[in-house]
Amino acid sequence: MDAFIAGMPKCELHLHIEGTLEPELKMRLAERNGVRLPYRTVEEAREAYKFDSLTSFLVGYYESMQALQKEQDFYELAHAYLTKAASQNVRYAEIFFDPQAHTSRGVPFDIVIRGLRRAIMDADRLLGVRAQLIMCFLRDFSAEYAMATLMESLPYREWIVGVGLDSDERDNPPVKFEKVFARAREEGYLITAHCDIDQPNTHEHIRQCLDVIGVDRIDHGSNALDDEALTAEIARRGLGLTVCPVSNGFVTSDMKAAEIRRMLDLGIKVTINSDDPAYFLAYVSENVRAVQAKLGLSRDEVVQFQRNAFEIAWLPRSVKDAYL
Ligand code: ADE
Ligand code: ZN
Repeated sequence: MDAFIAGMPKCELHLHIEGTLEPELKMRLAERNGVRLPYRTVEEAREAYKFDSLTSFLVGYYESMQALQKEQDFYELAHAYLTKAASQNVRYAEIFFDPQAHTSRGVPFDIVIRGLRRAIMDADRLLGVRAQLIMCFLRDFSAEYAMATLMESLPYREWIVGVGLDSDERDNPPVKFEKVFARAREEGYLITAHCDIDQPNTHEHIRQCLDVIGVDRIDHGSNALDDEALTAEIARRGLGLTVCPVSNGFVTSDMKAAEIRRMLDLGIKVTINSDDPAYFLAYVSENVRAVQAKLGLSRDEVVQFQRNAFEIAWLPRSVKDAYL
């Protein structure tokens, strides 16, 4: 089964590029840029990856980003992920990036996106991996800052397929960004949003995504399975859910395997993804393997995750069909 999962053509739809910053690259970039981080060696950096909730994870996550300063740093970050993805036979990836995690500390939007874009173009040509960018708004910043970021993205509209919503969900409901998403839709962006699994008001947030924001898919979202009406609505709309089992296991000790089983049974378009693989120590193959082992899934069932992913990918129909 390991070899089958490793060799299977894959599609990854929930991957934060900043979450692929491995300790080795982080320390190398920090040194090159003369940035002081609160650890001096790769081992100490690895030790610092300790967390038991989304909030405690995000603290170290943003702190690490200080290492990323130049266009070349963003290039190397994305190049390292895409090389790893190619080694796991990922054929297509939709990659989240958090411009505000960089602009808020003085790194220009242009630097971030040019580095990422150059790595994506090279990967298409040299690694056989296709990728597109999804720009996420940090929900713990204001709606005004999100709107300004949306405006700043417009000169690069052709390089970005859609927008998302991530970071700390507590007290930051989707409706806070209603106008931002409405404007994003007018600009032709597709829309997704995180509905994390250990959050208060989770069902209300999922409902807002469906009824107010009008999302095209949901990131995580497994909590919907505890609510019959939400489950039925997601199934009826054929909405995709990008689930990240190892990440979920880290922040709640629950991979949400039972929910994944039910989604497969109900025909909901559930997909398996790695979220922040450098922090959760598992890329997409390891995530699929973890769920397969936990649920005793068949080969057909693990293939179904990939069919779902290509089906809900933000690609033209003819391109998707070539993968399917
Ligand atoms: N940013 C990076 N990973 C995240 C996650 N799992 N939830 C919310 N924000 C994130
Ligand atoms: Zn995520």
